Amino acid sequence: MAAVEGGVTRQTFDEVMVPVFAPASFIPVKGKGLEVWDQEGRRYLDLSAGIAVLALGHTPDAVVDALTEQAKKLWHISNYFTNEPVLELARKLVNATFADKVFFCNSGGEANEAAFKLARKWAQDNYGPQKNRIVSCFHAFHGRTLFTVSVGGQEKYTAGFEPLPQKIDHIGFNDIEAAKAAIKDDVCAVVVEPVQGEGGILPADPAYLQTLRQLCDQHNALLVFDEV
Ligand SMILES: Cc1ncc(COP(=O)(O)O)c(C=O)c1O
Repeated sequence: MAAVEGGVTRQTFDEVMVPVFAPASFIPVKGKGLEVWDQEGRRYLDLSAGIAVLALGHTPDAVVDALTEQAKKLWHISNYFTNEPVLELARKLVNATFADKVFFCNSGGEANEAAFKLARKWAQDNYGPQKNRIVSCFHAFHGRTLFTVSVGGQEKYTAGFEPLPQKIDHIGFNDIEAAKAAIKDDVCAVVVEPVQGEGGILPADPAYLQTLRQLCDQHNALLVFDEV
């Protein structure tokens, strides 16, 4: 094998990393746009795009410049303070969308965890403690925290971590009749991926999403879309 950066190889992963993931056999060390290069200089087309979060490709100049400029000015200040870039982005998001408040976090799992907590809090505050059930889909994926794997509906991610958060029911994706049977007045939130990712890159039927919307309106539940 050719010389490697920093003396680490893919085998180092097996030696020193907790095996919660099974990364590819090569290590990307450089990327630009759609392309990445591994430790041995081999070029690849990256069609995975960071599981759909690299919408601008690898290392776009404008993003690199903005990060470099900010890193030289102010790096970290904790949440005892606010800061200008976060306020500017929040203002842009509020102006561009239906939302009037923004919550920033570090991962999809955290975003969903917050959404589920907020849904229960909102329902308890407005309708009482009995309105706490969450309905989601089998084969869904919403993150790796205990709450999000429980809502996710894939047993392989919850096995061994019991007892799990309660009052979570799963229905078949795109199953309108199952949705009608499951969504009642004690439901605080219905959670769905408009395109189910880990479940097989399956788009939701428009009629299914419309039914979820109607059922949530009818039963005063929040409809949470987990989408990129
Ligand atoms: C639909 C969906 N929700 C949530 C997550 C979790 O995001 P993160 O890995 O940033 O916690 C993922 C990650 O792939 C996802 O595909």
